[in-house]
Amino acid sequence: MTQIRSLHAREVLDSRGHPTIEVDVTLVDGSQGRAAIPSGASTGSREAVELRDGDKTRYGGKGVLKAVDNVNTILAAALRGFDAGDQAGLDQRLIELDGSGNKSNLGANALLGVSLAAARSMAEQRGVGLWAYLAAGEEVSIPVPMMNVISGGVHANNNVDIQEFMIIPAGLTSFHEALRAGSEVFHALKSLLHGHGLASLVGDEGGFAPDLRSNVEALETILEAILKAGYCPGEDIWLGLDVAASELLETGKYQLAGEGKRLTAEQLIELFDDWLAEYPILSIEDGMAEDDLDGWRQMTMKLGSRVQLVGDNNFVTHPDIFEAGIAEGIANAILIKPNQIGTLSETLATIRMAAAAGYAAVVSHRSGETEDTTIADLAVAMKVGQIKAGSLCRSEHIGKYNQLLRIEEALGDQARYAGRSTFQQLSAH
Ligand code: PGA
Ligand code: ZN
Repeated sequence: MTQIRSLHAREVLDSRGHPTIEVDVTLVDGSQGRAAIPSGASTGSREAVELRDGDKTRYGGKGVLKAVDNVNTILAAALRGFDAGDQAGLDQRLIELDGSGNKSNLGANALLGVSLAAARSMAEQRGVGLWAYLAAGEEVSIPVPMMNVISGGVHANNNVDIQEFMIIPAGLTSFHEALRAGSEVFHALKSLLHGHGLASLVGDEGGFAPDLRSNVEALETILEAILKAGYCPGEDIWLGLDVAASELLETGKYQLAGEGKRLTAEQLIELFDDWLAEYPILSIEDGMAEDDLDGWRQMTMKLGSRVQLVGDNNFVTHPDIFEAGIAEGIANAILIKPNQIGTLSETLATIRMAAAAGYAAVVSHRSGETEDTTIADLAVAMKVGQIKAGSLCRSEHIGKYNQLLRIEEALGDQARYAGRSTFQQLSAH
């Protein structure tokens, strides 16, 4: 009943209007699962390879017809009859069929499309939500959303250096109240920006992308919006940053162009330290560039007991790379992006590794998204405690939050919002 009857891939568009791959898996009993794969803009150098055609006459070279063809020919032939209920076996087979080590032959986008669509077909076959299928009877929790309200860096066309300023409503008691708080703060922020004569156009992740005088002005304006919406900063709602520092590094220094500053790693860590004293910041992602191991070590030593330090571009959701990072003692949390590694099983392995090492985990979208909401179910099923899915507007982001509302409703009395406890390993907050 759970053997794969057919695979079918097609080229669709993502939220930036670039092509991406969507895969349908059909089982012999007719159950179907579908997955569409997102795409990043500030990618880590060691991510699994997203296969693009490079044919400049189509979509500026960004077409994914080769990846589509790999699914429809090689993978469809090799996997016909394979038991989709054996996710680990299926993913191992995908890795072997690719054979490259970094998924560059068939494409991580092709492989992940099959991997996730297979899991979805199994959930359909069992007649349960994907989250329930993945949880397999284990305890689940609804993650705290980290919502991007001001965007900069490579995700926006403004002068703000830091890629993401997020609000984290960890102090609320349920997901739906947390989402409501996020929406109310988002709209309060919009009217504040208007009041200051600033644009409320949005970046790729739906956060506002105004030109600001400094990064501190972003922090101050968000705090003002939290208060204006009737919430208490540091009690109901905290702040989070994704510095995406790899994008700031130029000839050995971190360039905050908006403020005309060029900082060493030590100076940037000091700046974070000042901000921690001044603002209720709960999480800093990619505070150092991916290859700046020394900077990461220093930052973890200096700030790691007081703030969540999330590794994204350095760990790239890769179990082996992450394991080395844990051994180095860098960061205390990891960002989980399934398309950085390319199969569901490896994604799950990295999440389990984080839990075993006492690292927090944040399941994350990419800045080029689709209507696919798999990451919402994944975050619930794996009890990771946190999800980063963009802003409080535009359906490619809201879709993930709406899915969490549905799951919370389905869980009823059993619904447990991860809340503040997910950050409890941090001593000073
Ligand atoms: P990306 O960025 O999806 O553009 O790579 C998101 C992030 O850095 O977290
Ligand atoms: Zn990031």
